[in-house]
Amino acid sequence: MSEEITLGESLTKEERYRSLLDQTSALLDGEKDGIAAMANMAAALRQGFGFFWVGFYRVSEGELILGPFQGDVACTRIMKGKGVCGTAWAESRTVIVPNVDEFPGHIACSAATKSEIVVPVFTEGAIVAVLDVDSYKEDDFDSVDQKWLEKFAALIGELI
Ligand code: SME
Repeated sequence: MSEEITLGESLTKEERYRSLLDQTSALLDGEKDGIAAMANMAAALRQGFGFFWVGFYRVSEGELILGPFQGDVACTRIMKGKGVCGTAWAESRTVIVPNVDEFPGHIACSAATKSEIVVPVFTEGAIVAVLDVDSYKEDDFDSVDQKWLEKFAALIGELI
């Protein structure tokens, strides 16, 4: 597997996710280092979709600590239940926020983020990280993003 992501021009969102997951899965095959795997997955998702920010927060020391990401600098630590990331962790579920200005307690790392999806990463039933994807556009995430980003999160959860 070469270290290259290639995607056709006229793919639907679903096809784009499928191809990207296949290529990311091949790229990460056998990789046991979670940091390396998260780093390349964040890069692949940003490259594939042009999102504003894609990255991981890892559960450590009882809070979420910034992990590998692609995008602008971001807040380093998030407490359980705080912001979208802390809510996804506390409630063990994917959280989609169509308009971040309307989410109570949203942690605004950048004014450029208009909508956001946060997906928990489970390893053996426990949340070990969250995958956070932020968009320049309002209402940019739906059930298709949720379905596929949960597959990406599951891949990381299995690897690490
Ligand atoms: N907006 C997130 C914080 C992380 S940054 O967007 C990268 C939140 O409310 O949890």
